[in-house]
Amino acid sequence: MKAVVTTTPGGPEVLQLQEVEEPQINEDEVLIKVEATALNRADTLQRQGKYPPPKGASPYGLECSGTIEAVGKNVSRWKTGDQVCALLSGGGYAEKVAVPAGQVLPVPQGVSLKDAAALPEVACSVWSTVFMMSRLSAGETFLVHGGSSGIGTFAIQIAKHQGVKVFVTAGSEEKLAVCKDLGADVCINYKTEDFVARVKEETGGKGVDVILDSVGAPYFQKNVDSLNIDGRLFLLGFMGGAVTQVNLASLFAKRITVQAAGLRTRTLENKAEIVSEVEKNVWPAIVAGKAKPVVYKYLPLSEAAEGHRLLESSQHIGKILLVA
Ligand SMILES: NC(=O)c1ccc[n+]([C@@H]2O[C@H](COP(=O)([O-])OP(=O)(O)OC[C@H]3O[C@@H](n4cnc5c(N)ncnc54)[C@H](OP(=O)(O)O)[C@@H]3O)[C@@H](O)[C@H]2O)c1
Repeated sequence: MKAVVTTTPGGPEVLQLQEVEEPQINEDEVLIKVEATALNRADTLQRQGKYPPPKGASPYGLECSGTIEAVGKNVSRWKTGDQVCALLSGGGYAEKVAVPAGQVLPVPQGVSLKDAAALPEVACSVWSTVFMMSRLSAGETFLVHGGSSGIGTFAIQIAKHQGVKVFVTAGSEEKLAVCKDLGADVCINYKTEDFVARVKEETGGKGVDVILDSVGAPYFQKNVDSLNIDGRLFLLGFMGGAVTQVNLASLFAKRITVQAAGLRTRTLENKAEIVSEVEKNVWPAIVAGKAKPVVYKYLPLSEAAEGHRLLESSQHIGKILLVA
C-alpha cells in the first residue's frame, strides 16, 4: 500500500508518498481502509524530529475515517464494511491503518465519511480536557485561544451546546467572523485588543471560569489574570513557548487550578475510555446538528507536504484533510 513516510527530519518536503508493507492487525484491532486523514500540529513537530511517535506506532496521522476491512478475533463491536472514524497513535497518512477497536467511533449520522476524519482529535481533546478534567458546566464562562483552529472551532460549538458562554481570541477579523458564526459570544482580536482587559470588561471584573490554551508561556500570567475565582486553566499545547515566570500569589488569591495533558501519552485503556465518553456525550450533539466538522481544505495524500506548509502558515480555519 502507499503511505507518507520520512527518512530524515526537516521541512515539509521530507514527506514522501511511498510503497510500504500493509499493517497487520492483532486480535484487539481492526484494519481500516482509509478514506481521509486530518493534519495536526503534532505531525509537523514529529516531521521536524521534535516529537517522536510512540514505540511501534506507524508514523504520521493521528486520526482517520474509512471502512473496516478486517477485524481481530477479540473484536465484537465492529464488522467488515462498517464506516468509521478513529483516534490513532499514528499511521493515518496511508491507504490502510491498524487501530485498537476501543479507539474507533461510528461516523455520526449527517456527516460524510470523508469529513468524519476531522472529528476524532478535536472531539477527544476538547471533551477529555475541558469537560472531563476541567469540569466546564452549563452557566459558566469559557475562553478558548486560537478560536479558529481545529480545536477552537470544535470547542466553541460543543461548549455552546452545553450551555456555556464562549469567549475566543484569534488573529484576524476573518477568523473571528467564523468563530461568531459557530456561536462564540465574545470575539477578541488579540492583535488589536488586550484580551485580559476585554475579558474583565465582559465579565464585570470577575474573569472566566475555564480557559483552554495552546499558546503557553507568553499567555500564562495573562491567563491567570483572566480567570475567575476557582478558575481552571487547561494547557493543551505551548506553540508560543514552554518556559515562563509566574506570580504564584495570583494563583493562591483565586484558587486557580492549572492542568495540562496530551492524548499521545495516555494508555490504550485511557484512550478507549475517552472515546467512549465522546461517543456518549459529543456524538449526539453532532447527530442533532449542534456541532459539525469545520474543513478548510481537502488535498490528496500525495500533497501532504503542501498540507503541512498550509498548517504552518496558520492561514487555515478549522481542519485540513488528506484524502487517500
Ligand atoms: N494535548 C493534546 O492532546 C492535543 C490534541 C490536539 C491539539 N493539541 C494542540 O492544540 C493546539 C491547537 O491545535 P490545532 O490542531 O487546533 O491547531 P491549528 O488548527 O493548527 O491552529 C493553531 C492556531 O493557533 C493560533 N496561534 C496562536 N499562537 C500561535 C503560535 N505561537 N504559533 C502557531 N499558531 C498560533 C493561530 O491562529 P491565529 O491566527 O488566531 O493566531 C493558528 O492558526 C496545538 O498546540 C496542538 O498541538 C493538543
